[in-house]
Amino acid sequence: MYIGLESISMDVPGQGLDLRRLARARGVDFAKYQAGIGQEFMAVPAPDEDVVTLAANAAERALRDVDRAAVRTVIFATESGVDQSKAAAIYVHRLLDLPANCRTVEMKQACCSSTSALQFALATVAMDPAHKVLVLASDVARYGLGSAGEPTQGAGAVAMVVSARPRILRLDPVVGYHTRDVMDFWRPNYRDEALVDGKYSLKVYMETLEKAWGDYRAQGGHPFGDFDHFCYHMPFTRMALKAHLTLARLENASHTAAELQAQVEPSLAYNRINGNAYTASLYLGLVALLDNPGLDLEERRVGFFSYGSGCMGAFFGGTVLPGYRRALASADHRRLLQDRRSLEFGEYEAYYTHRVPEDGRDYATPRVTRGAHRFAGVSQHQRLYALSRASAVLAADAGVVCAAAPLGS
Ligand code: CAA
Repeated sequence: MYIGLESISMDVPGQGLDLRRLARARGVDFAKYQAGIGQEFMAVPAPDEDVVTLAANAAERALRDVDRAAVRTVIFATESGVDQSKAAAIYVHRLLDLPANCRTVEMKQACCSSTSALQFALATVAMDPAHKVLVLASDVARYGLGSAGEPTQGAGAVAMVVSARPRILRLDPVVGYHTRDVMDFWRPNYRDEALVDGKYSLKVYMETLEKAWGDYRAQGGHPFGDFDHFCYHMPFTRMALKAHLTLARLENASHTAAELQAQVEPSLAYNRINGNAYTASLYLGLVALLDNPGLDLEERRVGFFSYGSGCMGAFFGGTVLPGYRRALASADHRRLLQDRRSLEFGEYEAYYTHRVPEDGRDYATPRVTRGAHRFAGVSQHQRLYALSRASAVLAADAGVVCAAAPLGS
């Protein structure tokens, strides 16, 4: 029995900031962003977009031709969750009208809880092959206006259905792990922006790659030369390239520089124009690789390195299945990325500093998103989600004052 991805899809905010504008505003040479860190555009969520709406929109596409009645587990991986107690998976479960006989849970370990979610899903399906698991990875990356991390911000979600009837990717059971208690990047409960020791985080990322790879090999994983392509956790795309060169050097790989570049480059396409999406970042890389129209990936082996600050790393592999293209939503993904609105710098700052009231007063978010699901507002400390076109009705039903509030209020 093979277990793996039956479907995969993504969602990104409907707007973002061209990093040329950021470079101008910050007095930085755009080449530093474009060539130095490998980023050109970053997603910026609107007030009515959050990790729940992004995940729900991605899941709508991922479940398009999947038997929803067989989805008995929803795992939501995030480090920018909307509630300290209630799992974001429950909101998505309701928005997608999934069956009530379903397990729902949220998981956290920085950017790599999505990979643990995937591994838990594999184990679940191995125990019960009729069971389908919806794995959601969704995040909003925030570092602060004017911070060193600012050009690496972004947001996005990936939804994956794991089952015993994979159509896209067969996942191998061997995984290499590494955990170590470090403070390279973290976010205390009282902050909505991450704290990061940038240069140290790069060093820890590389050390974790080396250790997780070592464990992967020790557990019987494939040698470097067996892999055709690689996807790395991508806080910014240059990181993935640097990580790959490090791994190749470690393994004394005989590949040319161009061959090594070609093993990673296709996975960078979406992240370069969307930014970091923490838990979703590695899997946005996978979606970009799969969507690449110029590559025939059938029977190709892909290596994955997942990194979560704090820190934990995992290395694992999978093989792309024959006919995988038929199960992809590539045209939708391209349209999502192409149709985004490019924000003026002032709009970016307004979106960035926008806050929902924290005192429980009724509040309706401005209507911006083009997505099917939107964060409609808060009432009595409860977040309200709704279908975009029906949101006014649902919000009114819930007693929300629907007068559009100005941004930043
Ligand atoms: N033209 C071309 N390249 C230029 C340039 C120019 N004009 N100016 C600078 N550069 C190059 C630099 O040489 C450097 O490249 P190398 O690393 O290859 O030498 C690159 O641009 C970046 O320059 P700096 O190191 O000076 O950049 P910085 O100090 O302003 O910040 C950063 C870089 C530390 C990554 C910062 O963006 C940051 O803190 N980011 C957030 C943390 C992060 O992403 N960490 C990654 C590991 S942790 C993780 O992976 C988890 C997660 O998701 C956060």
